[in-house]
Parts: sequence; structure tokens; C-alpha cells
Amino acid sequence: MENILVLGAKGMLGGQFVKILKNPVGWDRDDCDVTKYDELAAKIRNLNPLPSVIINCAAFNDVDGAEIKPDAAFKLNKEAVGNLAKIASKLDITLVHFSTNYVFDGGQEEYAENDEPRPISVYGASKAEGEKEVEKHAKKFYIIRTSVLFGPKGESELSKKSFIDLMLALKDAEYDIKAVSDETNSITYAPDLATAVERMIEDRYPYGIYHITNQGSASWYNLAQEIFSIKKIPVNVVPVSSDEFPRKAQRPKKALLLNTKFPPLRPWQEALKEYLSTVS
Ligand SMILES: NC(=O)c1ccc[n+]([C@@H]2O[C@H](COP(=O)([O-])OP(=O)(O)OC[C@H]3O[C@@H](n4cnc5c(N)ncnc54)[C@H](OP(=O)(O)O)[C@@H]3O)[C@@H](O)[C@H]2O)c1
Repeated sequence: MENILVLGAKGMLGGQFVKILKNPVGWDRDDCDVTKYDELAAKIRNLNPLPSVIINCAAFNDVDGAEIKPDAAFKLNKEAVGNLAKIASKLDITLVHFSTNYVFDGGQEEYAENDEPRPISVYGASKAEGEKEVEKHAKKFYIIRTSVLFGPKGESELSKKSFIDLMLALKDAEYDIKAVSDETNSITYAPDLATAVERMIEDRYPYGIYHITNQGSASWYNLAQEIFSIKKIPVNVVPVSSDEFPRKAQRPKKALLLNTKFPPLRPWQEALKEYLSTVS
């Protein structure tokens, strides 16, 4: 059995690992700031037993915020990841790290694991650099790109709220809900992703880059429609162009993650149904 350390343990994805793994050690910012190299290295070295796997879910995830605070985004998504990769390599620990479909520009719509990143936002660039750091410094690693995570919100106050929760918060609105119809992504249920990664580690899949999302894709408009249809909430969702929602960061119009290396997960609609049965 592996001894696993989860970083970003109070985030949406990290929280799922803490929930499903057997006796993991879970750290969040209060336990150890991953941007502080010496503290991180010392704390990991002092763990007894030493972890055989580190799952890094800590990240700067605010896509628009990264345009205003590029230094903070690169510090967490690149620098800290490089340091973690060096520590993991020195201590012969397997590193599991998460990245995003936003490392791609959307020019070719579908991307396989070995396609070359070409980010169009600061967030995307910081995550692409983080991937390079892992490849450069870690010996045993999984880089898992994923896309549009949803699931129970992490315990941490700043943990990213999913689009689904944002939509549900609007359900009593008396006005039409506008949702962008010209941006399409793969969609991922955090508990399904965590279970898949647990299997990847246990079954000792070859190290490298993986694309793990639920099957299928959706625009924000498709997703909003499905949420309200499953919940039988009679709101009017109106498709709008992304030009109507000017945001600081540019997003790819369509950057779907092709999974050519791992058994496919269930369709996102099934996962969404399960999640929505747990929330009011
Ligand atoms: N959410 C998505 O839609 C999405 C899409 C594609 C890829 N991803 C990737 O998936 C991974 C997990 O995302 P998520 O949505 O689960 O993230 P999340 O909910 O925002 O959680 C991130 C966690 O990292 C912690 N953290 C931040 N700075 C830290 C620091 N300096 N030291 C230690 N911990 C720190 C946060 O704590 P505080 O809250 O206290 O800062 C938070 O608990 C990330 O790599 C992300 O880039 C996410």
C-alpha cells in the first residue's frame, strides 16, 4: 500500500483524495505553504513513514485573477511545482500533478496528451510552465490534465466554486440566465477524477501525461441547461456569445482533452445527475 501525501487537501479535488484514500496525510496552506521551499522540503523529510506518492492539488486557480497577479500565479503554478518535483526526485517519491486544457489555444479543438501546449492566458501559461518543471525535475511523475471540475466545494474558503454551484445560486432569479454558448470544454466530476487517479497509482500505469475528464463535452450554455433540466427548475437559459461577457483572461473556444491512454470515465451527464442528487 502506498503512503500518500495530498497537498491542497482542503480544495475541491484535494478534498476528494482525502475522502477516498486510505489514511492519507493531507496538508493545506495552514499546514505548509508550498511556495516555501525549505519548509516544504523539511516537512516532507520529517514524515514518518516517508510518502511514496505526493498528490499536488494546490494551485493558483483564478483564471481572470492571474491576469492581474501573474507573479502569484507563476509562483504557485510554476516555481512551487518545480521545487516539489526536485524534492520528490531526491526522495524517490512519485509526483502526481494536475494541469488544465487551458494550456491549449483551441486552434485544433481536440488535443491528445502529446500535443504541444500553446497557452493564451497567464493562468494557462503558468500551468504549462508547471508541466515543464515536472518533466524536467521529477523522475517518477503523472501530469494529469483535466477540465471544468465540479463536485462538492473544498473546505477552504478560497477553494474554487464550480460553475454548477454558481448556476444553482441563481436558480431563484426572476430574470433569464445568460450562458456562453461559444466556448466548449470537457467536463469533470472531481470524485470520478480522484477515483481514476487512485486506480492509476495502484495499477502502476506508466509515468507521463494523461487526459482525464468525464466523457463528452459541453458549452457553458449546454451545461446550464442540463443542470436546470435535471433539477426540474423552470428557468430560461439564454445562449450568448463570449463577447457579451468580457473577462480579463482569454479562453480557448474549444479545447477538448482526448484521452488515449486510460479507460474512459462515465459520461458527464451521468456524473452531473449523481452530484445534483446530493445538493439542493
Ligand atoms: N477547478 C477547475 O475547474 C480546474 C480545471 C482544470 C484544472 N484544474 C486543476 O486541478 C487542480 C485542483 O483544482 P481545484 O479546483 O481542486 O483547486 P481549489 O479548490 O482552488 O484548491 C486549491 C487548494 O490549494 C491550496 N493552496 C493555495 N495556495 C497554497 C499554498 N501556497 N500552499 C499550500 N496550499 C495552497 C488552497 O488553499 P487556500 O484556499 O487556503 O488558498 C486550496 O485548498 C489544480 O491544479 C487546478 O489547476 C482545475
